[in-house]
Amino acid sequence: MITLAETRQAYRGYAPAYDLLFGPLLQSARRRAIRLANDRPGQRVLEIGVGTGLSLPHYRPDARLDGIDVSGEMLAKARARAAHTPLAGRCHFQLMNAEAMGFEDASFDVVVALFVASTVQDLARFGAEIRRVCRPDGRIVLVNHFSMPGGLSARFGHYLGRYAGSLGFEPYFPLPRFIAETGLTITAIRPTGIFGRLKLVEATRD
Ligand SMILES: C[S@@+](CC[C@H](N)C(=O)[O-])C[C@H]1O[C@@H](n2cnc3c(N)ncnc32)[C@H](O)[C@@H]1O
Repeated sequence: MITLAETRQAYRGYAPAYDLLFGPLLQSARRRAIRLANDRPGQRVLEIGVGTGLSLPHYRPDARLDGIDVSGEMLAKARARAAHTPLAGRCHFQLMNAEAMGFEDASFDVVVALFVASTVQDLARFGAEIRRVCRPDGRIVLVNHFSMPGGLSARFGHYLGRYAGSLGFEPYFPLPRFIAETGLTITAIRPTGIFGRLKLVEATRD
């Protein structure tokens, strides 16, 4: 399990080069996820682990966005980027842990988490908090890599797992574990991004 201190340290290190390393590579998946999630006028959206805000240009200009992250360095970049998007003035960023959020129950029409599930410290608390802050009829949209069980890549992922704290993510992250621990009700899973190797996951609260 990755600790909060390890996550913060890892993303403090990634922040200066994050957009270069993970920007264009993952951008088509971000665009697809945000278009799917933010498909109606005036939605109140929560983006968990908003990072440097690479998803921001893809939101509708009438969305009301709350972006949270545990890394102050990543969040500072999101704030700077937001000023240059149509969402400027309609988004609010907070240093906040997704596993203990300060929002009231059922606050959001949509909850989004892009490449975050494999970086959090406790998947069960992450899932419980997402379900709590999402409206009963709301939607949950995530993108992540999910490991295939067995084979060479699984063995390599297991091996890299000992470095998860320094990497800031779990290299071996199978879908069944994600579903079991988050308790989310999955309604659709589609391949996306990098030759379909990522998964775009839609879920509901109950
Ligand atoms: C791989 S980055 C993804 C950033 C962004 N979503 C993107 O599309 O590039 C994971 C982000 O999740 C944040 N994070 C990890 N654990 C978190 C937690 N418990 N609560 C909030 N943010 C968290 C990290 O600080 C980091 O900015």
